[in-house]
Formats: sequence, C-alpha cells, structure tokens
Amino acid sequence: MIITGGGTGIGRALAHGYAEEHDVLVVGRTESTLHETATGYDNIHVLAADITDHGSAELVVKTAQRALGRVDVLINNAATAAPAPLEHVEPAAAESQMAVNLLAPIFLTQAALDALAENRGTVLNMSSSGASGGRAWPGFSVYGATKVALEFLTRTWALELAPRGIRVVAIAAGVVESGMGVRMGSTPEQYRAFLADIATRTPAGRVGRPAELAWWARQLTAPEAEYATGSVVVVDGGLSLM
Ligand SMILES: NC(=O)c1ccc[n+]([C@@H]2O[C@H](COP(=O)([O-])OP(=O)(O)OC[C@H]3O[C@@H](n4cnc5c(N)ncnc54)[C@H](OP(=O)(O)O)[C@@H]3O)[C@@H](O)[C@H]2O)c1
Repeated sequence: MIITGGGTGIGRALAHGYAEEHDVLVVGRTESTLHETATGYDNIHVLAADITDHGSAELVVKTAQRALGRVDVLINNAATAAPAPLEHVEPAAAESQMAVNLLAPIFLTQAALDALAENRGTVLNMSSSGASGGRAWPGFSVYGATKVALEFLTRTWALELAPRGIRVVAIAAGVVESGMGVRMGSTPEQYRAFLADIATRTPAGRVGRPAELAWWARQLTAPEAEYATGSVVVVDGGLSLM
C-alpha cells in the first residue's frame, strides 16, 4: 500500500498502523522524516519524491510494485495549507495547494488504477471536516476548496471505478494534533493555544489523535468494508455539527 505524506503527522500514524499487517511505501519530499517513520519497521519502504513533479505518479506506483509486489491501497494523505483571506491569497501558495492537495491525488490515482484493479483495491482520500457539508471556512478558502473537490472526486471515482472492483472512500478529519499547524507556520505556542481552543469547542472535548485516524482508515480499507464506496466518513468529535 502507498501513503503519501507518510513522513509526518497522520501519515506516519497511518504507516505504523498499517504496518501491522501490510507492506507500506511512504512518500514525501523529506527523506529524513520518511526514514524516521520507517525506523524499526522492516516492512515500511520509503520514497523521497515531490508528488507534484512531472512523472512522479508513475515513479511512486512503479516503486511500490517493485518494493511491495502489489498495490492494494492508495492513501492520498499529503497536503499543504497556506491560510489567508482572499485579499491576501498569493498565486504561488494557491497553486501549490491545488497541486499537492488536488492535482497530485488525481494523477497518482490514475497511475495506480491498473495495479489497484488487479487487487480489487481501495483509494482513501484524506479530507477535512472543516470543508464538509456545505460549510464555509474563512481564511481557508483555497485549502477548503481542494478538500471539497477531493470529496467530489471520491464520490465520482467510486462510480467510475466500481466496474473495475476499485472502491474509493474518504475520511473528513477534524482537528488532529499532528504538528501540521507548526508546519503551516505557527509557533509551537500558537499551535498549542489553537488546539486548546478547538478542544473547548469540540463536543468530544478534545482534538483528534493521529493514531485514531489510522484506526478509521484501516476499517474503511479492510475487505469487510467492501460494501462502502463513495463514502466520506466524518471523524471530528462532532466539531462540524456545531
Ligand atoms: N492535522 C489536522 O488537524 C487535519 C485536519 C483535517 C485534515 N487533515 C488532513 O490530513 C492529512 C495529513 O495532515 P497532517 O496533519 O498529518 O499534516 P502534515 O504532518 O503537515 O502532513 C503533510 C504531509 O504531506 C507531505 N507533503 C506536502 N507536500 C508534498 C509534496 N509536494 N510531495 C510529497 N509530499 C508532500 C509532507 O511531507 P514533506 O514536507 O516532507 O513533503 C507531510 O508529510 C492532510 O491531507 C490534511 O489536509 C489534517
């Protein structure tokens, strides 16, 4: 199975969860963090690649086939966020969010289709409940738009790919303590304050943990889940109901 963004946060937790019973290829740009994910796991393989580069989709799939022998699950987990209100959205930041969060999953999934079809495989797209269900999200218009689009792709691909035996599902995660805020530019103190504030506004009374996202992912991609396709499962402690 392939996990993009497997060097950090939720992607690392996904890799460790799946490694209990799968051979895993983690993909990201930073070789050191990918190797940290793989440390202690013989069955986690790494590929340092920018998923927005021309030809990287084919490289990822070929590397997975060579290292793992098959591709049964593809998790489009890598993403980038550059929050800004509309008047401050910069072209490079908007293009990068579109490229990583939306175009790369399109072409990676396309490149993996034959390999997935051989195994009646599953595509899992990692979305955000901040964008689900007709919501608005000031400051996150571009990031949220990529996630809305990813959910639309999930439903549409589910229909297009059902005849090939491929399922397509998504998780719309709430706020998860993954370190993403710091990678987006917040200081550790700002990120801690943000998480504490979200926890008080979340019906479950806390933010999410990367390992519980990994648990949900494994349920959704398990063979027993084969009747679910096109499903977007919200895992956010009830935050999006508020
Ligand atoms: N954390 C949350 O609260 C939250 C909430 C809802 C949804 N999500 C979603 O969950 C997923 C994982 O997020 P996270 O919280 O774990 O954040 P994260 O730790 O920042 O993960 C993002 C990953 O994407 C990789 N990546 C970024 N650009 C890339 C590129 N061009 N090519 C290859 N890899 C690239 C990064 O690795 P490199 O920088 O090394 O490339 C990083 O490992 C994302 O889809 C995010 O939108 C997160």
